[in-house]
Amino acid sequence: MERLYDSRPPFALLNGADPKELFSDLPTPCYIIDESALENNCRLLKRVSDGTGCRILLAQKAFSNYDFYPLFSKYLCGTEASGLFEARLGKEEMPGGETHVFCAAYRDCDFDELLLYADHIVFNSVAQLAKFGQKAKNAGTSLGLRVNPELSTQDSHAIYDPCAPGSRLGVTKAQWDSKMTPGLIDLLDGLHFHTLCEQDSDALAKTLAAFEEKFGAALNGMKWLNMGGGHHITRPGYGVELLESEIIRVSRKYGVQVYLEPGEACALNAGYLLTGVLDVTENGATTNVIIDSSAACHMPDVIEMPYTPPLYGSNEGGRFAYRIGGPTCLSGDIVGDYRFDLPVSVGDRLLFGDMAIYTTCKNNTFNGMPLPDIYKMKPDGSFEKLTRFGYSDFKSRLGGVKNQNIPFCQKY
Ligand SMILES: Cc1ncc(COP(=O)(O)O)c(C=O)c1O
Repeated sequence: MERLYDSRPPFALLNGADPKELFSDLPTPCYIIDESALENNCRLLKRVSDGTGCRILLAQKAFSNYDFYPLFSKYLCGTEASGLFEARLGKEEMPGGETHVFCAAYRDCDFDELLLYADHIVFNSVAQLAKFGQKAKNAGTSLGLRVNPELSTQDSHAIYDPCAPGSRLGVTKAQWDSKMTPGLIDLLDGLHFHTLCEQDSDALAKTLAAFEEKFGAALNGMKWLNMGGGHHITRPGYGVELLESEIIRVSRKYGVQVYLEPGEACALNAGYLLTGVLDVTENGATTNVIIDSSAACHMPDVIEMPYTPPLYGSNEGGRFAYRIGGPTCLSGDIVGDYRFDLPVSVGDRLLFGDMAIYTTCKNNTFNGMPLPDIYKMKPDGSFEKLTRFGYSDFKSRLGGVKNQNIPFCQKY
């Protein structure tokens, strides 16, 4: 089969266009989501599902700009949600697709509503399965249990390692052996694991070996295996062949439908954050550039992960060095240290790359920072405003709901 290999650097899909001209009519700050880039990712993912028979879900925690769900639905089989609202969004906005939910623990008051949206529900503990399993089964939902293969495959980013010692995520083999009963096993249609973060297929292969050793026997007789997210399938150089052979091997060996639920891979390198320079100040050897966007508010993973996002026009050998940060009070509201060939001045515009993932769905209004507008860049190069935020988006999250008298937990 002809393969689509992706070797894009973060700004390659600008196709050589100068962002100063391309985005000159857009306000700052704003996110720009590139429809062609999303479709490019979708095609790569579809190749994997077509070639292996696996089903691929969009993990909405990474990207949930639902104006693009009609596009995704042409290539993916549905959505994965981490809770009630994402489940509802997936069901509403990708109505023909499957709706899978995994949450570390479900609330009693949400559960009936969740059953309206979810066709697959994954539990995180034996106790949660025992509590909600029969009810979900009676509603016709396909049930799974998240297991923990207890194999860490990454050295860094400990907060993204569900296999770290003492992890609350997934049932360990010891928990399974001591707590699972034949009745509970009977409720299960599938197993789920999620252990990877921005990793290649070699890490998946190692994880699968650990999973099979501990839970392979339990998988026999079940209908599906969900291998979670963290597969960086659309990253240039990702080892697609090994992923595909592992999917095919496992599907055949256990007679199960394999699911993947990548988030990042769906929208990798498919968005930008356009910002404006508000001030340039010097403190000793450091030249600080303050932009009208904030790492803490608008690109929270820069601080949480942490990582330094790609910035158009910067280069490591550049003559002029800057520390770029946001306008909030947080000393650590720093996007990163960058170098340019030319000096940066007040009024300049800066373009951060790979800004579609874990941004628009994770941002906040700390310090009263406005949320950036979100634009779609269409394949013909034109723009469509998807949403504009204002003061009410900030204020409504802080109070002021008088006279509504809605009972807690029934307010949705
Ligand atoms: C259960 C689960 N599935 C899928 C994902 C998506 O991961 P990624 O965006 O790294 O592909 C995550 C991310 O944390 C997750 O926890």
